[in-house]
Amino acid sequence: MANTLGIRRFDYVEFYVGSAKMVAYWFAKSLGLKITGYMGPETGVKDKVSYYLCKNKLQFVVTGAPCPENSQIWHPITHHGDGVKRFALNVDSVEHAFSYALKNGAIPIHKPHRLKDEKGFVEEATIKVYDDAEICFTNRSEYKGLFKPGYEPPLDTMDLRCQDTGLLAIDHIVGNVRQNEMDHWANYLNKAMDFETFVDFGPGDISTQYSALLSKVVRSKDNVIKLPINEPYLGLKMSQIEEYIQEYRGTGIQHIAISTPDIISSIQALRANGIDFLEVPDTYYDELRHRKIQISENLDDLQKLKILCDVEGQGYLLQIFTKPIGDRPTFFFEIIQRQKGAQGFGQGNFKALFEAIEHDQKRRGNW
Ligand code: FE2
Repeated sequence: MANTLGIRRFDYVEFYVGSAKMVAYWFAKSLGLKITGYMGPETGVKDKVSYYLCKNKLQFVVTGAPCPENSQIWHPITHHGDGVKRFALNVDSVEHAFSYALKNGAIPIHKPHRLKDEKGFVEEATIKVYDDAEICFTNRSEYKGLFKPGYEPPLDTMDLRCQDTGLLAIDHIVGNVRQNEMDHWANYLNKAMDFETFVDFGPGDISTQYSALLSKVVRSKDNVIKLPINEPYLGLKMSQIEEYIQEYRGTGIQHIAISTPDIISSIQALRANGIDFLEVPDTYYDELRHRKIQISENLDDLQKLKILCDVEGQGYLLQIFTKPIGDRPTFFFEIIQRQKGAQGFGQGNFKALFEAIEHDQKRRGNW
């Protein structure tokens, strides 16, 4: 079943960061992405530097502004710190996706436009989401060059050896919003993109002893795109969502979940490459053993690597969360493997996960 907007899949995610070269290096060395393209002063673009990184279906763009005159890039970075500026959805027709979204309440940022060079053209259009982020509709099928016009192979041969992480594709992209904003953005995405609310976690569904949050998952009706949205809920202490909004100075993308066909190999490689993950107490695995869950993986392996497991009906999912990757406790990654048709987001793991985050919040003094 196709979806109304003609969305085929997640395309790329673009980060705005303080130093594109260093963050691109980190993505390459730790996540195992390959630096495939570059745009900057040497390629004729004076006020911007972008690196295009790929692995399997995963595509990231890391962009920085070497000079503060480029305020469109500089301002969000000085305000929010490093973070996701936009994520792109690959569509059959940019014109159709954009006009449908606009007719149904989307806030326009960039109208459909063509980026051209001698190798063809790319069509793009963007709409607003959350405070300062964008959803980009893109179609690159008429472009025969590298990624998009303006990109060239990287200038230097960067011999960035690391262990193969096996990361495959984007599974879902999560936003954090303020109290009473979740319904607004869920309705906005559902209307503008003809999505549907797939899961609705209400008061009491996601909480620890000290903090709580509400969450809705909206998705395309063919389940190709999944966009969970979190908002803080009343609790005794500052929730992780409030901390994000305070530190990011607004609402935005909290995490990207990346799928892998073999999470044990992936996490062994990511740990060897130096990635830090949230801690999980051994009691979590004692409880899994007590429940006698039926999974193909060895629980000792999961425990050693601190991988979480959530069983849902016949299926189950394995997941793990990195610590925030930048200076501010804002953006992080999730690595996920869905087994036997599991479609959820690890509800059974929320408590263990949030207690681990609270432990780190205390260390930061945001508690
Ligand atoms: Fe997630």
